[in-house]
Amino acid sequence: MSDQNENIFPVYHEILGRAEKEQQLTQRSKVIWLTGLSGAGKTTIAKYLEEGLYDLGYLTQVLDGDNIRSGINSNLGFSDADRFENIRRIAEISKLFVHCGVITINCFISPTEEIRDMARRIIGKDDFIEVYVNAPLNVCEERDVKGLYSKARRGEIKEFTGITSPFETPENIDIEIRTDLLSIEESVQQLLELIVPRVEYR
Ligand code: ADX
Repeated sequence: MSDQNENIFPVYHEILGRAEKEQQLTQRSKVIWLTGLSGAGKTTIAKYLEEGLYDLGYLTQVLDGDNIRSGINSNLGFSDADRFENIRRIAEISKLFVHCGVITINCFISPTEEIRDMARRIIGKDDFIEVYVNAPLNVCEERDVKGLYSKARRGEIKEFTGITSPFETPENIDIEIRTDLLSIEESVQQLLELIVPRVEYR
């Protein structure tokens, strides 16, 4: 049986590279990976962080679980295998953005160390900034912005992160943002202080 990839010839050397794109955009591209429970504030932080970076002249793209799962990943659910595939595809997409010089801000629960390690490996550790957007489970559950925690408690959603599916505390983070203790402005300020030196074109 032949290898299904034996007739595939990726072309990288003939097309304009990342360096040219970064020079054109005068920025260094990175993936800012926000991990945390549903309702912890990943999407909200991403929105304000993107505005902050935009005001400083940076080109970004937010990639968000709910959006991606209604499009390219609409065939995936929330089993361990589907979450893994969800994040694998996102990591590959993010890598394309990085090669195009664009900074991505990724909002995915990405619940296990294995899943986050896989994303870091695909993207490359030098381009991967891991942010733990953390609010305790009871706070996320009280907020229940989408009404999903009460559905999960009633048994209407299976494999819900934090209730019937695990969330492992991230061990390899660059920064933790406690959204129950900090304001949005404080959170974004802390993130900008970490990120700007890494995306500045020097
Ligand atoms: S991940 O685990 O694969 O990283 P992802 O971030 O893409 O998850 O999607 C999470 C979003 O899907 C949540 O914010 C929530 O709105 C929705 N969702 C629906 N079902 C579940 C579930 N069983 N567990 C967690 N999130 C769910």
